[in-house]
Amino acid sequence: MLKAVLFDLDGVITDTAEFHFQAWKSMANSIDIDFDREFNEGLKGISRIDSLNKILKYGGVLEKYSDNQKMALANSKNAEYVELLSELKPDAIYPGIKELLDTLKMEEIKIGLTSSSKNGPRILDKLEINHYFDTVVNPALIENGKPAPDIFLSAAEELGVKPEDCIGIEDSESGITAIKDANMFAVGVGTEEVMEKAGADLIYKHTGELEFSGLLHSFKQT
Ligand code: BG6
Ligand code: MG
Repeated sequence: MLKAVLFDLDGVITDTAEFHFQAWKSMANSIDIDFDREFNEGLKGISRIDSLNKILKYGGVLEKYSDNQKMALANSKNAEYVELLSELKPDAIYPGIKELLDTLKMEEIKIGLTSSSKNGPRILDKLEINHYFDTVVNPALIENGKPAPDIFLSAAEELGVKPEDCIGIEDSESGITAIKDANMFAVGVGTEEVMEKAGADLIYKHTGELEFSGLLHSFKQT
């Protein structure tokens, strides 16, 4: 029985995935590493430090940077990202999300945020939707980031529900893998090819297609 819906944030609730792309690209270019959208796809859902390590490895310079230098690079990326967030307003919430949150509340389905981003609470504030969430998992306390299932399992535990009674919504391959490995129903929003490859149970091209009755219907069929 459906008891909770767990939302990824960047690329599901709003377009901050684009801000992450811009900030990483600018950091990578500053140390002469090429960075394009195709490579960026593989960073979606991945924590800040794991993303940095992937970028440095991609540029063939992973061993050249000390932990302190890496910290400085991660901080500079985050500073640029936070600057981009200053533009964020409630009207940036993706279509269909607010309606879904309202219906979930009405139906007394619990709502969780399962984002890898340490900026999650700040973004919920800016979008003025933090009051909808029964739990916001702190990614700093999660040992294994996505694609590991830990953040989804932790949300279910915090909400006091069983994993099989949860739906997870994600836009990244790593996120869908994490949901499936947590034994939850995975809804993918994005490119069909990417979502299918990752094993999503239900795929939508845009959040505007997300709708409670459709989700419930598909969930019940599994
Ligand atoms: C995820 C994003 O939600 O959060 C990643 O998809 C990002 O792109 C990660 O790197 C960590 O975010 P932050 O804000 O803690 O650097
Ligand atoms: Mg995402």
